[in-house]
Amino acid sequence: MSRPRRHVVVTGRIPVEGIDMLAADHEVWAWDSTDPISRDELLQRVGGADAIVSLLTERIDAELLHAAGSQLQVVANVAVGYNNIDVPACRERDVIATNTPGVLTDATADIAMALILMSTRRLQEGERVIRSGQPWQWGMFYMLGTAIQGRRLGIVGMGQIGAALARRAKAFGMTIAYSNRRAIADDLAAELGCVRMDMDELLATSDVVSLHCPYSPETHHLIGAPQLAAMRTSAYLINTARGPVVDEAALADALAGGQIAGAGLDVFEHEPTVHPRLLELDNVVLIPHLGSATVETRTAMATLAAANVLAVLRGEPAPTPIST
Ligand code: DGY
Repeated sequence: MSRPRRHVVVTGRIPVEGIDMLAADHEVWAWDSTDPISRDELLQRVGGADAIVSLLTERIDAELLHAAGSQLQVVANVAVGYNNIDVPACRERDVIATNTPGVLTDATADIAMALILMSTRRLQEGERVIRSGQPWQWGMFYMLGTAIQGRRLGIVGMGQIGAALARRAKAFGMTIAYSNRRAIADDLAAELGCVRMDMDELLATSDVVSLHCPYSPETHHLIGAPQLAAMRTSAYLINTARGPVVDEAALADALAGGQIAGAGLDVFEHEPTVHPRLLELDNVVLIPHLGSATVETRTAMATLAAANVLAVLRGEPAPTPIST
């Protein structure tokens, strides 16, 4: 017996593999522009949707769920982070919310490792010198960076991405500490050779601090002026999690004042705007939210989001529901 075709709204451009999976069974409307959809248009377009496939640029809140209507069954975010979704509001309406964990672990850990290497070895500065046409010459003391071998990496939020970064950093000769609400499994801790610390100790003793916690009211400005002051003056801060986990104005002060040595940022407090004082500093690497930006990873994210929608519309459990 054939099932009824449902209405699926996709709020932004996603790889065609995801659209094809959805369109095989359902009617799909997708916003087809590289610019994000306006809020007004989105509120109109979601009306009557049985499923919404959302991007992290769209806020899925009570107003939007109401605009969609009571037939809405599932919101599938094409991202592992889901701070754009009001999960309790979904739960109140019996709407299942899903995300895409696992498939972007390696890509994001690669970018965090790249930011560690770029910032400690001053690659962004070197690139700028060459492109600007400034004269340069190999020199014994020219543009010296910091070795990471034997240095401590402090990971804040030891989930799948934190553990994948720990594996990479270990291969580069770093030692690993982490801070997490719960201790990780003994066998994983043994594999990574890592020790658990409270935040104060981790900040005070790490040479590189890398953020991998979800964004929530509890982690808003988790790293602000007091935390930056607690770090070593030789330390680096890496953020591939969410921008508002860091107080960007305080970070600019700390970088300008030599309170920490450098930073590498893939995410920003008011994305896509970057704090103007960060733009003036040489000791910060700035990249435009590229953590999961590979063809392979974005395809896997889109197809996992589509699999979540298809399962829920078939009346089956979603493969990766948001469980908090
Ligand atoms: C995520 O999935 O949360 C990433 O930030 C998207 O790149």
